[in-house]
Amino acid sequence: MILVIGAGGQVGQELVFNLREIYGNDKVVASDLRELQDQSGPFEVLNALDKNRLHEIVAKYKIKEVYHLAALLSATAEKQPKFGWELNMDSLFYVLDLAKDKIIDKIFWPSSIAVFGPNTPRDNTPQHTVTDPTTVYGISKLAGERWCEYYAKNYGVDVRSIRYPGLIGYKTLPGGGTTDYAVDIYHQALAEGKYECFLKENAYLPMMYMEDAIRATIELMQSDSDKISIRSSYNLGGISFSPKEIAAAIKKEIPSFTISYNPDFRQKIAESWPSSIDDSQAQKDWNWKMKYDLDNMTIDMLSQLKKMKAL
Ligand code: SER
Repeated sequence: MILVIGAGGQVGQELVFNLREIYGNDKVVASDLRELQDQSGPFEVLNALDKNRLHEIVAKYKIKEVYHLAALLSATAEKQPKFGWELNMDSLFYVLDLAKDKIIDKIFWPSSIAVFGPNTPRDNTPQHTVTDPTTVYGISKLAGERWCEYYAKNYGVDVRSIRYPGLIGYKTLPGGGTTDYAVDIYHQALAEGKYECFLKENAYLPMMYMEDAIRATIELMQSDSDKISIRSSYNLGGISFSPKEIAAAIKKEIPSFTISYNPDFRQKIAESWPSSIDDSQAQKDWNWKMKYDLDNMTIDMLSQLKKMKAL
């Protein structure tokens, strides 16, 4: 049995859907702070900081695999630093300890490009390099990576992780990230024909279409354990583009679309992150291959969003 913590979030909703397709609706327990609309399988209300409740759910369903997605993202955690740290770290320990105590067998926990910082090489950022995050979110993800590796090496815990780039999907809106503009822009392009961006036109960031990110997650989790040479977190490259370039891609589909720029505090966060990522280790270890580029993603995003609006 699988438990997804943070099932109502941007990644969670899509992951639950895909895991249920693969393993069956009743084999995947979704959990979130709040009741979810989609009840295609078992659901439990869970605050990721409530260790007793977590243990209760794990025992009730005989959970063996946990996808722990609950976190405060970069922009939100800057507004509540202490809480961001507490949520992102304590909840991870609760899950890691379940595996250390052999109650569960396998964990997925996402890290992020936010572990990198101003002194990290920005282009084609290597797997092993300077990590000097400037955000609470990045600090918590970096510390989490170190703990994951520690638990794997010292206690034999099977934990697997990906440093997600900015994720772009049509099913749900992201919450509180610096890369969120690249989702919002599609919604606004269809609704208003224009978009005011909170980053500068040349703010290059690594991004990825949700379908690729979910496939990567599942492929990593399905790989043989001896293929996983990285127990902190794998770099994953995705597509690197700037607001100017995504706007140009949208313009190809909606010629009247216009973009303007009004950078806020998130620009500074973006400047501290890489512009592109080297994911050769993931390619080598578990055959990772990305499918969507900027144009394919744009065509798919716009057509899916149009379909959803028509419903
Ligand atoms: N998308 C995340 C954020 O912007 C980065 O992992 O916070």
